Amino acid sequence: WKVAVLMGGWSAEREVSLSSGAGIVKALEERGHSAIPIDLGASPAEGRDLPAKLIAADPDIVFNALHGVPGEDGTVQGLMDIMGYRYTHSGLATSVIAIDKQLTKQHLVPHGIPMPGGHIVASEDLFAADPLPRPYVVKPVNEGSSVGVAIVTAEGNYGNPIGRDVKGPWQEFDELLAEPFIRGRELTVAVLGDRALAVTELKPRSGFYDYDAKYTDGMTEHVCPADVPADIAQAMMDIALRAHRLLGCKGTSRSDFRWDDEQGVEGLFLLEVNTQPGMTPLSLVPEQARHLGMSYGALVEAIIADALA
Ligand code: DAL
Ligand code: MG
Repeated sequence: WKVAVLMGGWSAEREVSLSSGAGIVKALEERGHSAIPIDLGASPAEGRDLPAKLIAADPDIVFNALHGVPGEDGTVQGLMDIMGYRYTHSGLATSVIAIDKQLTKQHLVPHGIPMPGGHIVASEDLFAADPLPRPYVVKPVNEGSSVGVAIVTAEGNYGNPIGRDVKGPWQEFDELLAEPFIRGRELTVAVLGDRALAVTELKPRSGFYDYDAKYTDGMTEHVCPADVPADIAQAMMDIALRAHRLLGCKGTSRSDFRWDDEQGVEGLFLLEVNTQPGMTPLSLVPEQARHLGMSYGALVEAIIADALA
């Protein structure tokens, strides 16, 4: 195959995407494919050259290794549709919904998928009063990698930004979502094709599973398969597969959960579905694939094969 690997971009996850993209290019080359790395650029002005770069590359398929806006929200997908390129991962309509954590809830909760309550808040209002009883979480609706996530507890708050008493980076985000904080454990399930792969528990050495804990080697212990009761693991895999199908995801997705282990299966909540899950050395989809005996390179090929099917 001749594969254009699209990466970079101007979201807060630019560096994560460059890391995912580099891994994918290397794996494709090792497996005898031709890989053409394309950096979308660090600003919309640079992104303007994308059509010309794609035309020059003349790929059989575009591997979308972008994270965040505009690579995960349908924008790039729409351009690929217009230009007639086949591409990996989810299409336009799915991406528009899944990038937005509140829209995702509106689509999945009526189908019985358990997700936390909560509502959209304006950043000015956060500085005036608590939007929910503490403890609660505030997060941008459409960022990834925990960028801008804060947990506000009775004692204070932690995360980035520092909290509602401080006028911080929250003002950079268009829309914020306040949700009740689910105590307990952080878990994730990857779906590849039509199969839920495994359950991984994330145990950060300190604080919560924030950006640094996600991308600094040694800061989070990954337990795969997670040490949870079989019925809880099965419930998570079922929910991840149902969410993948209900949203119309393609290729691969990763569903992130919190589980209040004092509440049994009633304490299980899907937080979000990631349609462009990370492919970095510390990322979770490759780790679950490896657990099932599938190498990183074989995973990359499986994602492409799914898109070409
Ligand atoms: N947003 C990051 C890349 C992930 O979901 O893995
Ligand atoms: Mg995410």
